[in-house]
Order: sequence, then C-alpha cells, then structure tokens
Amino acid sequence: MSQLDKIDKDHLPLHIAIIMDGNGRWAQEKGEDRLFGHYQGVESVRHIVEGCAELGIKYLTLYAFSTENWDRPEPEVTGLMELLADTIRQEVGTLNKNNIKLQLIGNIEMLPGYARAGIEEAIELTKNNSGLTLIIALSYSSRWELVEAVKTIAADVKEGILSPDQISQDTLRHYLATSAFPDPELMIRTSGEYRISNFLLYQLAYAELYFTDTRWPDFRKEHLYEAILNFQQRQRRFGKTGEQIQRESATDTH
Ligand code: IPE
Ligand code: IPE
Ligand code: MG
Repeated sequence: MSQLDKIDKDHLPLHIAIIMDGNGRWAQEKGEDRLFGHYQGVESVRHIVEGCAELGIKYLTLYAFSTENWDRPEPEVTGLMELLADTIRQEVGTLNKNNIKLQLIGNIEMLPGYARAGIEEAIELTKNNSGLTLIIALSYSSRWELVEAVKTIAADVKEGILSPDQISQDTLRHYLATSAFPDPELMIRTSGEYRISNFLLYQLAYAELYFTDTRWPDFRKEHLYEAILNFQQRQRRFGKTGEQIQRESATDTH
C-alpha cells in the first residue's frame, strides 16, 4: 500500500512550503560538482510539483535561492541562475497543461536580465490557471521582505494613505510579498538541517515543521506523502488547549 492511500484527502495542508536543501552535498558525496546536484534537484521539483497537483494541494512554495545565496562562489551562482531561468522557460507548457499558476516572491531586481524576462513571461503565460499555485522564492529572504514592507508602510503613512493607528496584523500581511497567499500549514526542510534560513519568518508562525535527512535530489512523491501523513497526525492548537480543539472538531463533524 502506498503512503498515498493513507492520506486523508479532506485534511490536506492548504499550503506546503519547502526548503529544498542538500543539492551540493548530494553531488559532492558522489564525487561530482555541486552544480550536478542542482540539476538533479530540478528533477525532484518536477516530481513534487506533479505530486502536489495530483493531490489537489492549492499552494506550494519552493525556496530556490536566498538573498544570502548570492554570496556563493560566482560559478555556482551563474550556473544556478541559468538553470533556474532555463527550467522555468522550458516548463511553461507543462505548467499550462497541468493548470498550474506560477508566482514569484523575492528581490527580482537582483536577477540577471535574461532570468527576469523569462520568469516574467512564464508568470504572464500561466496567470489564468486555477489549479495549484506554484510560488518560487527566488532571491528571497524574509528579512528583505520585512524591510521592504516597512519601507512601503512608512511611505504610505507619509503620503497620508495609511495612519499608524490603523496598522493591524492584516495591514502588515497586505504589505508582504506573500499577500495573495494563505500562510503555509506545513513546512518541509530536506537534508538534515534544522533551521529556517531566513524563509517566511512571519508566515510560518503556526506552520507544522517537518525535517527529513533525505537530500533534495533524492526527494520523491513518497517522501512528500510521508510528510503529509506526519502533518495529519498532529494536533494543531493555535494557543488553545487540546480539549478545546477536540471539542471544536467534534462539533465540526456534527
Ligand atoms: C539547496 O542546496 C539549493 C540552494 C541553496 C540553491 P544547497 O546548494 O544548499 O546544498 P548543500 O546544503 O550545500 O548540500
Ligand atoms: C536555504 O538553504 C536556501 C535554499 C534552500 C534556497 P541554504 O543551504 O542556503 O541554507 P543554510 O546556509 O544552510 O542555512
Ligand atoms: Mg544548503
């Protein structure tokens, strides 16, 4: 029996976010160049995007490149940028065939021109799709996003569009790069690292965190199912007591 059959399709996480980590080590362990790991990582992306679309997951965010990753050696950065830009361009047909809408969060101004153009085109060409929303976090970091939000809020206050006493949690949410998406309910990080690495710090406030030793290039649908099953076994309390949650779910089903 596949793990897929054990998944409760009525309680899927609405939004899954993944820190796709371990490409470099995966390649180096095989005596290969780190870039080889990134190429294999793209194969995992294909499997996992397809797996999420098949399941009916509504939002999938993939952390592909952080603002800190710009500080890696130049050949790795250039190789990665070319790989990401080429992949996005090549996958537009498949995205459309599977009704997947592509979105991007991150500092797009830092991207080389060719990458930017291809990505903007792919976003435009998939904008009417209504199935899975695939959000690529590219040149993204949460601290960058929060600083941008604060700058725009300050400018709007100065312009008189916003008054400081109107600022609520919803206002802040509206200024984030993720304003169009619900918060992730499940966050997966591969390759045995137990940290957030500047990813969606605000949005992950109540996400269930799942860590696996599997390196990203080895991550396949069965690993995804395993993570979802693990998520489904957890009691999400949002600050309340376990008894309150049990009572609420009993009344929900009646
Ligand atoms: C994740 O794999 C991909 C990116 C950060 C771009 P890494 O390249 O971080 O691989 P490790 O963690 O060094 O093995
Ligand atoms: C996080 O991985 C960024 C991405 C997966 C794109 P890193 O490999 O950059 O994170 P650290 O440096 O190990 O924290
Ligand atoms: Mg890493």
